[in-house]
Amino acid sequence: MSVLIRGGRIVTAADDYVADLYVEDETVTLIGESLDVSADKVVEAAGKYVLPGCVDPHTHLDMPFGGTVTIDDVESGQISAAFGGTTCHVDFIIQPQGATFAQAFDEWRAKANGKQVIDMGYHMAITDLDNGGTLEELASLPDQGITSYKLFMAYKGALMVDDATLYRAMEVAAQSGALVMVHAENGDVVDLLVREALAAGNTEPLYHALTRPPEAEGEATNRAIQLAHLAGAPLYVVHVTCREAVEPIAAAREKGWDVWGETCTQYFFNSLDDIAKPNFEGAKYVYSPPVRDASNWEYLWNAVRTDALSAISTDHCAFLWDGQKTLGRDDFSKIPNGGPGLEDRLKMIHQFGVREGRISLNRMVELLSTNPAKLFGLYPRKGTVAVGSDADLVVFDPEKQVTISASTHHSKADYNLYEGTTVTGAPEVVLLRGRVLVENDELVASPGVGQFVKRARFGQELRPSRAAVAP
Ligand code: URP
Ligand code: ZN
Ligand code: ZN
Repeated sequence: MSVLIRGGRIVTAADDYVADLYVEDETVTLIGESLDVSADKVVEAAGKYVLPGCVDPHTHLDMPFGGTVTIDDVESGQISAAFGGTTCHVDFIIQPQGATFAQAFDEWRAKANGKQVIDMGYHMAITDLDNGGTLEELASLPDQGITSYKLFMAYKGALMVDDATLYRAMEVAAQSGALVMVHAENGDVVDLLVREALAAGNTEPLYHALTRPPEAEGEATNRAIQLAHLAGAPLYVVHVTCREAVEPIAAAREKGWDVWGETCTQYFFNSLDDIAKPNFEGAKYVYSPPVRDASNWEYLWNAVRTDALSAISTDHCAFLWDGQKTLGRDDFSKIPNGGPGLEDRLKMIHQFGVREGRISLNRMVELLSTNPAKLFGLYPRKGTVAVGSDADLVVFDPEKQVTISASTHHSKADYNLYEGTTVTGAPEVVLLRGRVLVENDELVASPGVGQFVKRARFGQELRPSRAAVAP
């Protein structure tokens, strides 16, 4: 199968030029002016952007959490991703208490079996290093392409680990070539504040935010940075929401430490006004760390522009409002934490980041595709448009108008965090390794076409698979 994409504006993290692009089988094999080639399929892309498929480094599909299971499984989550221009994501395996990492990996692979529409890798979320998973087994995960470990410093009594466990994982990562990821909130303090709020009769969703203050995020972020530095491990702080957490990341980066931070689409758009909505509607905005005061929005845009923060993910962790979020109608601490968004990241960041002049088009590609691919061992197979790279491509129409809504999105979630927002610019054709996934607003590939990707160790490259086209 060959595809010719003609006359598009090819935009990578570094370049921006008009050219034809030729795909044979799974890879890009030629880029040039007026290519004289025949192709099985021609996509006319004049006036359109040709972007590398977006890489989402932070998703939760088919994950048991908060007394229920996320509503999007691998199939619905990845279909939703494909419509949004995301062709690869890294999902979290959660180690069940007492299970080995191999058991956890098998369980997560079984959930994906036959359902994959896009490519995916896994991070291993460590919950237990004393029963089940051992340090030796942890050290062997990069050999299987799982090259990042995640630890939760919050969710006491569920996923939270103590500092000794966090530090032991960092020591292993320093040796094994894995990247350590942290959910940075002080879980002990949050737990105390939650109990105090409930004892005072404060049960509304708003108290989810008020019991998880920015200082708790800032303190844990700084603690993780110092511990990672001591252990000699690279660190990636997920879902950063506020100045209190950005500042220690920026300070570490200025010192040249191996520290990176990510924020998520929702933290630019949702605020305390949303979680305070009446009639339990605020529960739609219950995720952790929580929504912040709207004054953080421009601060975060500045942080992604200046590379204090280096990636934007979705943290897609979707629950139904009606039937799942309602588990916490009388007690905010029982509302499952998480929100949908896999489909909306590119459109929202293009509209409010690029169109409104906050970041450049190149920087958008870097934040949504290239940096996640580089940090998580997928580059240059993913994350760029180049000869030899996977033909994961988005033909993006910068003039297409779309109104975002739960009534049209492809997630099973019964609400959308950006309901009613009209954007100008949306994916038109999405390809995964040369195969068209989405065209004319239709899914044209079947579940099963996506693959598990064995990622490279931190700091190493994932070379293109076909030696014949490798530069
Ligand atoms: O509320 C959230 N973010 N749910 C997903 C789990 C996590 O903390 O990333
Ligand atoms: Zn988290
Ligand atoms: Zn998450």
